[in-house]
Amino acid sequence: MSVAPAVSAAPARTFPKDFFWGASSAAYQIEGATEEDGRGPSIWDTFTARGLIKDGSSARVACDHYHRFAEDIALMKQAGFTAYRFSLAWPRILPAGRGAVNPAGLAFYDRLVDEVLKAGIRPMACLYHWDLPQALEDEGGWRNRAIADAFADYARIAVARLGDRVPDWFTLNEPNVVAINGHGSADHAPGLRLGDQGVLTVLHHQNLAQGDAFRAMQAERSGLRFGTVCNLQPARPESDRPEDRAAAIRWDAVWNRVPLDGVLRGAVPDVLAESMQEIVQPGDLERIRFPIDLLGINYYSRMTMRYEPGRLFDVGWGDPHAERYTGMGWPVQPDGLYDLLLEFKQLYGNPAVFIAENGAAYDDVVSPDGAVHDPERVAFLRDHIREVGRALAAGCNVKGYLVWSLLDNFEWAEGLTKRFGIVRVDYDTLTRTPKDSYRWFAETIRTGHVA
Ligand code: BGC
Repeated sequence: MSVAPAVSAAPARTFPKDFFWGASSAAYQIEGATEEDGRGPSIWDTFTARGLIKDGSSARVACDHYHRFAEDIALMKQAGFTAYRFSLAWPRILPAGRGAVNPAGLAFYDRLVDEVLKAGIRPMACLYHWDLPQALEDEGGWRNRAIADAFADYARIAVARLGDRVPDWFTLNEPNVVAINGHGSADHAPGLRLGDQGVLTVLHHQNLAQGDAFRAMQAERSGLRFGTVCNLQPARPESDRPEDRAAAIRWDAVWNRVPLDGVLRGAVPDVLAESMQEIVQPGDLERIRFPIDLLGINYYSRMTMRYEPGRLFDVGWGDPHAERYTGMGWPVQPDGLYDLLLEFKQLYGNPAVFIAENGAAYDDVVSPDGAVHDPERVAFLRDHIREVGRALAAGCNVKGYLVWSLLDNFEWAEGLTKRFGIVRVDYDTLTRTPKDSYRWFAETIRTGHVA
């Protein structure tokens, strides 16, 4: 779909000198080499093998970042990135999820981190971006409380090896997506439909595992900064009907509050207190709370909710009535980012945050001269970065902005069909071609200013 970018009336913004800029990525989406150097299978390999990826593709090669990371980091450096958030593949480091460590897996991350540092970029490591070792899934995965031990041990091993060079450690990427998409609607691995209680259980076990991991990392090494990454979306009711309003409150609790209230307050949201009573055990609330240094916020759009009995939490998706949509069919709602940053500041006392992911897929076209002109993506990034500027002016404690993503990559169940990169990847030749948005972003970083 091609829609003319809207002209926003937001004022021009100059960002603070120490504001950090860069991109985020996930191991499974870019690395490839899924069967190399002793990596164990993950739930996404199993999901893919079941034929559940829309275009029938797999992540076996993906962007081949495992072999081409130096080239990719050179692109980051050329664009002036000052930070890069990547994830570690748990099954590369611990092929069976726990127990024997794979030295070749750790060695890969040594090489990667060294290259990032050599480029003058701050490495930010995320421990879990959805590629759970299949062996742990076979023990019940996130349904099983015992996963907390395995996760804490993995975190400790990673920090022991890389903590001398990586200052920032993030535990989970989007626990709400893991719970809802992986264990509620079955469109992500492990492809389960557990119902409301199952989804809440998976959310709570991620909170537990995360709390244990923070303490394990802290005990292993001092001087590190800790955080987690949440996908936050303001939930709005489709109408003023009381049942739609109640649906939006319920969805907000499941989607935004369980992860946030867990780590920041050691609490479960009131509307879910009764449902979570049988899941939360004595001592759990102290375990899930941790004084993090930096919260990563992933923002893509708002959510419009309506009462729909029979769906998860009796909540369905309403019509957002947006003027623009991305290639994923998601509404483009930059002001939702401003709303959520302000709401977050009001609710949680303004701790330090950064935008850990923001970006858009569009159906890019390669011009006859080989260039990729992507004005819609440029408009998307510009409009969202402006809103970050507006939030900063309103006193929000935002420290940086990372685009999703540097490269086109394996977009989970959508396979290779959806392109989020500011750099195009030709999946036949693996050639990287910076798009117009890459140059626009580089210029924004250089000037620290968005017009
Ligand atoms: C995830 C990414 C994903 C992106 C676009 C985020 O929810 O963290 O892995 O590719 O959204 O769907």
